[in-house]
Amino acid sequence: MTEPSKEAAPKPASPPQATGAPEPGKGKTPEAVNLGRRRLVLACVWGYLGVNFLMFLRYFFPRTLFEPETQFNIGYPSDFEIGVNQRFLQSHRIWVRKDPGTLFVIHAKCTHLGCTPDWEPMQNIFHCPCHGSEYDIDGINFAGPAPRPMDRCWIAKQADGTILCNKATLFINEPFAGVDQFNDPHAILSI
Ligand code: FES
Repeated sequence: MTEPSKEAAPKPASPPQATGAPEPGKGKTPEAVNLGRRRLVLACVWGYLGVNFLMFLRYFFPRTLFEPETQFNIGYPSDFEIGVNQRFLQSHRIWVRKDPGTLFVIHAKCTHLGCTPDWEPMQNIFHCPCHGSEYDIDGINFAGPAPRPMDRCWIAKQADGTILCNKATLFINEPFAGVDQFNDPHAILSI
């Protein structure tokens, strides 16, 4: 009688040993996940604080428009030629208008909607590019929608002979309202 053959029984698979290293194909360990989360939270907190700090610093630089002084000296009458002088157009938005014996300052602002007209020396007129108003060499409107002549600025001769101009005080000529301030002694100077 033959004895039954003793075949080796299959060994049960041993459970995987915890090594602390991520297993291939099975993601990260809880420690690594927690570390990643901690870094993300810290990055958010520092980012939030950093943005708020920059906003705080921004308060020290107010959004202010620095406009030129409304009162300024334009120099001697002899500094200007007869006609229209554009020397202060860019810096102060005025034209100095000089004739033999008189001088006045025109505020370069169209009386329709406030655009800056162009001086056209070939035609001796001011032409507003916005809606086509036209003014003669003295700033008196004669065409287009402008309702009145361009305003004139306050001027005064100083003790040293120079001329002080103040744009904060304007003289107007409003024919329909019966107002004419162009002959005020500070609207036109005898030179
Ligand atoms: S703003 Fe000058 S014509 Fe309208």
